Amino acid sequence: MDTKPVTVPRLMEMKSRGEKISVLTAYDYAWGRLIDEAGIDVALVGDSLGMVVLGYDSTLQVTMSDMLRHTAAVARGAKRAMVVADMPFLSYQVDDDEAVMNAGRLVAEAGAQAVKLEGGGPVAEIVERIVSVGIPVWGHVGMTPQSVHQFGGYRMQGKDEKNAERIKREAIELQEAGACAIVLELIPSELAREITESLDIPTIGIGAGPYCDGQVLVTHDMLGMYDKFVPSFVKQYANLWEATLRAFKAYNQDVKSGKFPRK
Ligand code: KIV
Repeated sequence: MDTKPVTVPRLMEMKSRGEKISVLTAYDYAWGRLIDEAGIDVALVGDSLGMVVLGYDSTLQVTMSDMLRHTAAVARGAKRAMVVADMPFLSYQVDDDEAVMNAGRLVAEAGAQAVKLEGGGPVAEIVERIVSVGIPVWGHVGMTPQSVHQFGGYRMQGKDEKNAERIKREAIELQEAGACAIVLELIPSELAREITESLDIPTIGIGAGPYCDGQVLVTHDMLGMYDKFVPSFVKQYANLWEATLRAFKAYNQDVKSGKFPRK
């Protein structure tokens, strides 16, 4: 197996060779290790952890402390995969200096190799500041979950021309600001194709069709470990909820009946 660490230049080379980039979310040490062993290129410590690990109803409640703790755990497990940490809501939107400090903490204290921020427009200026201190930044446009209340729900974005143009413009501005990759979430696949072809940096799609340079899924969704809501674009590779429930029930029965432990 290829043990060479995945770096920013390597992701750029993959785009130019047409080699697809695989990304999964990870939230702890075991999944960092599993992602590495499976040969996945990037472990994204997504703020989706607020929903799938911490039980909140959105990503908005996730804090810097949550991200530092979970990123550090993933980074202890993933040695080959690039570890990218989401910057949580309000950790970068309020003050530029604070944004640089928070991005720096995710890299210096927690061991991330890059951070990810949601949105375009003014966010591009913050990206530029963070990149200027040497921290690689991923952008994220389209359906950006930290703006869920503005969108009125988790809805596909960029379906009409005006919004499609806005998303294209945001992607270009993020590249110009120095972003090294961009997540395209829940946008029409033709729009994702246009953006992907217009950028030098890789695009990573989620619910954005097959034409992106790479794909990301929330691990709990693809493993069938989150029972509240699974987006229709997700391919489920296992049903760990059912398998775990079966194992827990069998253990419960064994303990109650005295079958485990053996005398
Ligand atoms: O938080 C997350 O897991 C993400 C992915 C869905 C891209 O941002």
